[in-house]
Amino acid sequence: TTTGTPKHFLSIDDFTYPELRGMLDVAVSLKGRLKEGDRPQPLKDKVLAMIFERQSTRTRVSFDVGMRQLGGETIMLSGQEMQLSREETLEDTAKVMSRYVDAIMIRILSHADLLELAEGASVPVINGLTRRAHPCQIMADLMTFEEHRGNISGAKVAWVGDSNNVLHSWVNAAELFGCQLTIATPEEYSPEKDLMEDIRRAGDAVRLIEDPREAVEGADLVITDTWVSMGDVDAAERRRVLKPYQVNTNLMALANKDALFMHCLPAHRGDEVTDEVIDGPQSVVWDEAENRLHAQKAILCWAFGVETN
Ligand code: CP
Ligand code: NVA
Repeated sequence: TTTGTPKHFLSIDDFTYPELRGMLDVAVSLKGRLKEGDRPQPLKDKVLAMIFERQSTRTRVSFDVGMRQLGGETIMLSGQEMQLSREETLEDTAKVMSRYVDAIMIRILSHADLLELAEGASVPVINGLTRRAHPCQIMADLMTFEEHRGNISGAKVAWVGDSNNVLHSWVNAAELFGCQLTIATPEEYSPEKDLMEDIRRAGDAVRLIEDPREAVEGADLVITDTWVSMGDVDAAERRRVLKPYQVNTNLMALANKDALFMHCLPAHRGDEVTDEVIDGPQSVVWDEAENRLHAQKAILCWAFGVETN
């Protein structure tokens, strides 16, 4: 059995600024090297198991390809095909899998289930999205902003839409990276208790309002996400209430001229964002999707405790 606590990547607020900055530096370096055909193989013979309790395109493919580029291998598992769906506990699953594989990445709606898996695992566990947090996404988002605009410290960031997992991780990142995050959500879909606590803890870094126009005014970055997240049941009602929060050219016009637009994808065109914006010159959504690959390779290197130079 392995001794010591494994290096889990579960939530942005588990980390210090220097730790995350270190991972972003590795991500940028790995991206540059990959473009030059240089592929370090620090994870040779390592196996990452990936458990998906819910759908995924980007997370699935980018972790799989990233692991291969680092010399490792992957096992793709669907929660429904595992004994998990017949009530084997997360903790028992973690104990067994830790005897076979070198790390586990999981997408599971319940954040409590993620924590239970991590508690039981003696290998690193990476959060591939829960209802509470999507930390891998935010690492890619930070990387993408800085690639285009330089250091994100002090940047004005606007979140427009409902309150969800991606927002929660952004709130944690704003606190650590010192951005000015303004959140515009309708009262009906405003932050739940634990996110409200994180918003309060972030102090001046995060402001919560209702008016999307006020939020984007002078912003350097405008972010939205689907109005119906995995696990949401009230799709029609959400689309009705969130209609005024659509990111369209009128709304973007209130942001800084060179403001960037981000969306973690998948997008629901015509709902939270129009074609004009997502396909327009300010949109960096494809770079953002690509950077999932590079950011996660850095997270994997950190979790495995390997150097890439
Ligand atoms: N952004 C994101 O996590 O995409 P997938 O759901 O396709 O993995
Ligand atoms: N908020 C979305 C993100 C998908 C990547 C969801 O949870 O479904």
